[in-house]
Amino acid sequence: MTPPMDIVHLKSMVNATLLELMPAQETSPTHLHQGMHYALLGSGKRLRPLLTLLAANVATDSHTLRMACVSELVHTASLILDDLPCMDDATMRRDRPCTHIRFSESTAILASTNFLNLAYGVIADCPNVDASTKVAVSAHLSHVIGSMGLVGGQIADLQNHPVGTKSAIEQLYHQKTGCLFEFAVVTGARLRGLDAEVIDALTRFARAFGLLFQLYDDMLDHSTFVQETGKDVQQDAAKTTLLSLYTPEEVRGALSNAQAMAREQLRRAGYDESSLAALVEQQFVAFNGAAQRLGV
Ligand code: IPE
Ligand code: IPE
Ligand code: MG
Ligand code: MG
Ligand code: MG
Repeated sequence: MTPPMDIVHLKSMVNATLLELMPAQETSPTHLHQGMHYALLGSGKRLRPLLTLLAANVATDSHTLRMACVSELVHTASLILDDLPCMDDATMRRDRPCTHIRFSESTAILASTNFLNLAYGVIADCPNVDASTKVAVSAHLSHVIGSMGLVGGQIADLQNHPVGTKSAIEQLYHQKTGCLFEFAVVTGARLRGLDAEVIDALTRFARAFGLLFQLYDDMLDHSTFVQETGKDVQQDAAKTTLLSLYTPEEVRGALSNAQAMAREQLRRAGYDESSLAALVEQQFVAFNGAAQRLGV
């Protein structure tokens, strides 16, 4: 396995690129731009851009960094909306009050809309990426954001529907969480010009990883203190989640099956000895640790 890469350094490059991509806070309309900076530059883990950079073979040239930031812009847009009173009605995000609380609901909605707009603009304006790759990335992003992806997953989640069936909830998790991981890793592979077989394997990897990540997120929701997560906890009490549907044995089984699937697909994609695999293994340690703490 490749030695652990300097994630802290990569993350600081992602943060610097995000700053470059956003309009300055002093630029009019200042309230909107301040709201965008506030939402984006909190304590986010930047996991999705990191996955793109690692899938692109730890490339850190400016066009790969810019393309890597696209998923973070979309993710931040989704978090702003997710926290609104009409959705999860949250108060804290990334260790501080949610954007709609610190600013206003209208600013939050418009900041989110502008993040989505910016995401497509970043792809279109990216230098040194050929037109066919840009078209493929844009089309993929449109699918990932749309009613078969994030938006569809979010509405199903809010309606707490479908209730009961595990495979339907797994599909919902794929839509609301896994799809954007898929976009992140597949974009990294596209920037390397990798073929359809690799993209298929990474797509399957992301489905397994997304399931694990959302299951982990559901476990974090059981925390007692907001300080542990930087966001509201105990939000899912009235909701059907995989955690509420699964017996502890099934949670353990799902964790180990999805990890095996993710490893297998990374191997198929040729990433088994890569920094991407190393980061994924680090995440698995966190997922398994949370399961242990919950006693499952
Ligand atoms: C939280 O995502 C929302 C989910 C998809 C579960 P992250 O845990 O990646 O949030 P940040 O970006 O670090 O704030
Ligand atoms: C995560 O759903 C999916 C999103 C795209 C926002 P959650 O509602 O569980 O996310 P958190 O726990 O608020 O971050
Ligand atoms: Mg939600
Ligand atoms: Mg939420
Ligand atoms: Mg959650």
